[in-house]
Amino acid sequence: MAKRIITTDSTEEDIRLDPGLRPRLLNEYIGQEKAKDTLKIFIEAARQRKDSLDHVLFYGPPGLGKTTLACIVANEMDVNIKITSGPAIEKPGEMAAILNNLQEGDVLFVDEIHRLNRQVEEVLYPAMEDFAIDIMIGKGSAARSIRLDLPHFTLIGATTRAGMLSAPLRDRFGVVNHLEYYSEKELQTIVLRSSQVLGVEIDNRGALEIARRSRGTPRLANRMLKRVRDYAQVRYEGKISAAVAAEALDLLEVDRYGLDRIDRMILELMIDKFHGGPVGLDTLAAAIGEDSGTIEDVYEPYLIKNGFLNRTPKGRVVTDFAYDHLGRARGSNQG
Ligand code: ADE
Repeated sequence: MAKRIITTDSTEEDIRLDPGLRPRLLNEYIGQEKAKDTLKIFIEAARQRKDSLDHVLFYGPPGLGKTTLACIVANEMDVNIKITSGPAIEKPGEMAAILNNLQEGDVLFVDEIHRLNRQVEEVLYPAMEDFAIDIMIGKGSAARSIRLDLPHFTLIGATTRAGMLSAPLRDRFGVVNHLEYYSEKELQTIVLRSSQVLGVEIDNRGALEIARRSRGTPRLANRMLKRVRDYAQVRYEGKISAAVAAEALDLLEVDRYGLDRIDRMILELMIDKFHGGPVGLDTLAAAIGEDSGTIEDVYEPYLIKNGFLNRTPKGRVVTDFAYDHLGRARGSNQG
């Protein structure tokens, strides 16, 4: 087991609030078979050599398990993990201090690593490549740089889009893993596992109903499970069946394809204001009052993957499937 988990900010507070739901070892982790297979081999090889694991990059939409996998790597390697995030480190000296405090073999997990600023990122280059940092001492003509050796450590970076990482940083990761949305079956298994951890009574079909509506994302599946549990506790003596799950999730405005109020608002706004598109990302973001990065990272990938939205060279377009699902007729708003 990882010796210690140290966080420098609150980005991952659910690690501390909800430790039980997160799998702690690779063999408890459901899904992401490709990432798991590669990690298993590299972890085993590093352990045999008694060396630190090479630096790892995880990329993919939020909620798919990047932090969980980083903690699992630390557990499997039996080292400490220090957790921080790109926006939390503002100055090169802060990064140097974090690196300097690591112990041999430790994992440093940097969430949203694409948001590190340029100067901070530059501290990482020699740290990742040579396990050293260069520090300037003195001023003016007396200024000189000294090299400080670091323990061998593993940097695990997480980002929602690998394309946003600078090339020099991306190239310094030895292992790069793309995390995929989970299948319904995998999510059903996760919901059943989490129910057991939480002591919730649920049948297979109840778990499948939650899985179907959790947009391929374990974080949402677990969050919904807790809300459905509350609903079942108050209305149905705690037992979750498919009907109870459906009723609870309808109340939460999560529909049978997992679309929530904001997803539907995006599609409806595109239909009502832009005749279904094409509409540019920034125009859409301004109309909705959301940050364009959030639309691109959080909402759009799921809408595109599930056939509600297409990305064309001229902008985003609502599909016929989305019109049908929302019960809207194409062209009815034009004129
Ligand atoms: N809880 C959240 N993600 C999980 C996963 N991938 N496997 C098992 N339990 C989980």
